[in-house]
Amino acid sequence: MVDFLGIVSGKISTNSFSFTAQGKVKKFDYIKLYHEEAGFVLCQVNDLSNENNVITCNCEVIGYKDNEGLLKVPKTTISSGIEIYKADDEFIKKILGLDKDEGVYLGVLDNYSSIKVKIDSKKLITKHLAVLAKTGAGKSYTLGVIVEELLEQGIPIVIIDPHGEYSSLKYPNDNLMELEKMKDFDVSPKGYMDKIVEYSPDITVNPEAIPLSININSLSAHEISMLTPIKIGGTQLGILYNAISEAKKDNLEYDLSEIRTKIDEVNSNAKYGLYSCIDFLDNLGIFSKNPVNVESLVNHGKATLINLKGVDPEVQKIIVAKLCSDLFEKRKKSLIPPLFLIVEEAHNFCPERSFGESPSSYILRNIASEGRKFGLGLGVVTQRPARIDKNVLSQCNTQIIHKVTNPNDIKAIASSAENLNINVINDIPNIAIGTALIIGASSRPLIASIRVKKSLHGGKSVSFKTELEDADEKKIKLARKTIEPVRQIKQEKQIKTEPVQEKKQIMPEKIIIPKEPAIINESVISKKEESKDIINIDIINLNNSNKLIPVYLAKVLQGTKEYSLLINETATKILNIKNNELKEAEIYGNFSPKSKSVIDIIVSKGQTNIAYLFNVLNYSFQDLDYIIKDLTNKEVITVINGKILPKYDYSLFGFNHPIETNEVDSKIFSKDIDNSKNAKKFLESLNLNVSNLKKVYIR
Ligand SMILES: Nc1ncnc2c1ncn2[C@@H]1O[C@H](COP(=O)(O)OP(=O)(O)O)[C@@H](O)[C@H]1O
Ligand SMILES: [Mg+2]
Repeated sequence: MVDFLGIVSGKISTNSFSFTAQGKVKKFDYIKLYHEEAGFVLCQVNDLSNENNVITCNCEVIGYKDNEGLLKVPKTTISSGIEIYKADDEFIKKILGLDKDEGVYLGVLDNYSSIKVKIDSKKLITKHLAVLAKTGAGKSYTLGVIVEELLEQGIPIVIIDPHGEYSSLKYPNDNLMELEKMKDFDVSPKGYMDKIVEYSPDITVNPEAIPLSININSLSAHEISMLTPIKIGGTQLGILYNAISEAKKDNLEYDLSEIRTKIDEVNSNAKYGLYSCIDFLDNLGIFSKNPVNVESLVNHGKATLINLKGVDPEVQKIIVAKLCSDLFEKRKKSLIPPLFLIVEEAHNFCPERSFGESPSSYILRNIASEGRKFGLGLGVVTQRPARIDKNVLSQCNTQIIHKVTNPNDIKAIASSAENLNINVINDIPNIAIGTALIIGASSRPLIASIRVKKSLHGGKSVSFKTELEDADEKKIKLARKTIEPVRQIKQEKQIKTEPVQEKKQIMPEKIIIPKEPAIINESVISKKEESKDIINIDIINLNNSNKLIPVYLAKVLQGTKEYSLLINETATKILNIKNNELKEAEIYGNFSPKSKSVIDIIVSKGQTNIAYLFNVLNYSFQDLDYIIKDLTNKEVITVINGKILPKYDYSLFGFNHPIETNEVDSKIFSKDIDNSKNAKKFLESLNLNVSNLKKVYIR
């Protein structure tokens, strides 16, 4: 039974016509009619209008298949008065090219539940893919579907996964609503545990992953310059190039410290800028001499996740840059099989030029334009089509577009995709979740219902979280706490203004004896018969007042020197005795304000480097170099392998007074608090080795 819908009337062109609906017609319905020369022709309803309940359908001619199987649009117009019918599935499949058995099964044609939409996997891989939509519209879900399909076909996949969304591919889908829909899509639940390999640079946050680090000795001078935000001039690039070649001569397995040593040997002021560059890379903590072998990342039938959850966004970009260029190089030499590389949040990794440059921009642009020649397919995913590199986007021959509402993003989509008629573009903000406009599956754009996933989806919103995920989240938070200090250092790198004032000075200049130290008015009891009420205290007699000021006396070891130090009771200051008076130890002496800022940072951080100081203080390299040399000479700091450590000679306050032991009435000390643990910690924070600590009183 063929559904009759109406008769062609009104103005007709070779591409369009209209009719008055006499049956049930919906927007984007496929219809067919007979053309004298071409035979049956497929058309689509683009737009409906209603005037006094008379429904007019504006339609577009899609075409017919010629003898060679090519889609053609008739060269003459359709005749007025021709009958219009609902198009049958077989006809739609044939004309739209959806009659293939093979391919990446994405879902079904919207409103045509028995027409499967499949993309030729070879085309997907050689001609790149973009998945575009606003947040929560289904990008990662659709990518998950594609990954499942490619895994079934044995195609190697590498996924750059900034949010750790894809590890759930390991487990079968257990979402009840989705399970119900599975029959409609002809799929069943399945987990891909044995096909997912997960790597992460941060295994504290991602404990299931294999640690990921990158090879430093394959970095060229040019790459180094690309990976750091620090501008490197021509001369410096030359120095770096030579330093790398020299380091390579000494040892093929060289690392950053060896490059630094070679830079040290250069006699040129230009080298100072390079130190910050090396330190920057060193501080990232992602380069190692034993990096992950890029060849092992690409395996038939496996998807390798590069889980970057918890990794600083700037570090993510560097990892992506290095990893992608290694993959591309290996692929060019056929050292790894052809693969599909998925980059989530791609607007961060290859931003449109007006939104800045990322270290990974260059290589992703390169893969987008050259990858197809070498069997490296790229799949970019973004919620901001306007912010991703236009050139990358326009190289993506397959585009899957979910709901997008931002007008700039819609504009970017319209200009990157050919073939999109205005009706379709206007409809992009209305696309429902689970539905997508697909360009590249057929000779013309299609709207499809994306199939449900066989495996569990990981990008769920919080309210849908299972208890298991919540428990995982807690574990992650716990793990995160323990690694917070490292993270803080990384974040501080971005502070460009002077945070010096904010930093707690461990050693202020002036002595401030606590306002109300546990000063105890007492009289020392002369030797009496033994009693429980009597205790021994150690007293240092200075001025023979009758007040006792509690302090801690520590035996410390600094380098090879052993001496005694006094610390105030609240464990915040080193004390000194000058002219028989108790004072705070003044370690600064007469340093310039600039030197003092430098000391502040070095002391408060415990360890730093010239690049960090340069970033934080905004002093010139020459100034910093001078200050560091000066402080090194004065033994306030030491520099080891580019790392700057505080080295104040605390032994200057070494304390060597006689201590008397006295018996006192214990009641007087009932409120005395024990802060010795903090005193010990305080000394250790100054890199002092405490061998003995006791409370004494100064009188
Ligand atoms: N094809 C689909 N079928 C069923 N649910 C879907 C589909 N696509 C998306 N969803 C739902 O929408 C949510 C958000 O999708 P997701 O892909 O994570 O969004 P994003 O675009 O931010 O990556 C998913 O958690 C899922 O519940
Ligand atoms: Mg997502």
